[in-house]
Amino acid sequence: MAHRLVSGIQATGTPHIGNYFGAIRQMVQLQEKYENFILVADLHSLNQIHDADRLRSGTREIVINYLASGLDPEKTTIFLQSSVPAHAELSTILGSITSLGLLERAHAYKDALAKGREANLGLFSYPVLMAADILLYKPEVVPVGRDQQQHLEITNDIASRFNHLYGQTFSLPKGIILDEVATVPGIDGQKMSKSYSNTIGLFESPEVVKEKVMKIPTDSRRPEEPKEVDTLLALHRLISAADLPEIEEAYVKGGMGYKETKERLAANITSFLQPFHDRLAEINTKPGYLEDILVEGNKQANIQSNATLEEVKERVGILSL
Ligand code: TYM
Repeated sequence: MAHRLVSGIQATGTPHIGNYFGAIRQMVQLQEKYENFILVADLHSLNQIHDADRLRSGTREIVINYLASGLDPEKTTIFLQSSVPAHAELSTILGSITSLGLLERAHAYKDALAKGREANLGLFSYPVLMAADILLYKPEVVPVGRDQQQHLEITNDIASRFNHLYGQTFSLPKGIILDEVATVPGIDGQKMSKSYSNTIGLFESPEVVKEKVMKIPTDSRRPEEPKEVDTLLALHRLISAADLPEIEEAYVKGGMGYKETKERLAANITSFLQPFHDRLAEINTKPGYLEDILVEGNKQANIQSNATLEEVKERVGILSL
């Protein structure tokens, strides 16, 4: 059987370099090796977005970002979670074997409440729908950033419980969380996140990149003084291949001021983002391209997920006539 990979992004805002390094880059690299199923988690986004136009544009934006990042529809099935009804159906079935205690311990849920988000049922049951997203495709691997680790553990807990109750159905997928990019910092030093307004988007203009990078907080060390590993250096480590040794050395021994370090980072981010802009321009010349990709992707995802759903229904005793 083919080795499969599943991953996804919510349609809650513009994807950023944290999403790229934490997850999208792995999806792109691994499409050569795995049968990729990559979704736009639009149903998940509904627990946060209650504005139809925003959800529609957010959904398109994720698909465009996938393509501009190098996901190839010939190799990767790109689809909308909402266009594959098996996700919602399996989520309902799994919800009946998921304890409240398991969901109450979810950090993402607790953090969202602590930040004043509405405590709706969609937010609370989020990990169950995510478990359905994953288990329907029986994947071997799921590339994600560190913030999704607990959700993967919950997925495996739910799968194990299902197997225990109904017989071996799901093998447990492994997360691919790369240490060096597991949590990309935002321009304020916290985790880069759409909800913290501290992101650098994949289609950001050079002017905005510069403006954002110049805002990264630094201490009062003078150019000649050695510096601590900080957000600036962490971002250089991701972005700056050619001048990284020089910048690392200037950090350890002193010799480069923060202003110069920031200017170089902004320039390097701008060059790094150029291919994303180029691919975006190309996508924009093809009317109907996105829709065609999604129609085909939705079809493939429906075929695959319906096969698993039928098996699940049989196991739990739901008549499928
Ligand atoms: P989401 O939309 O919050 O983020 C998408 C992916 O980007 C990663 N990520 C980061 N990685 C490193 N540093 C950061 N600062 C950073 N910010 C975000 C996330 O870890 C994630 O991998 N629940 C998921 C979406 C989802 C999903 C799935 C993922 C729905 N169903 C099935 C995998 C499989 C989420 O909210 O990701």
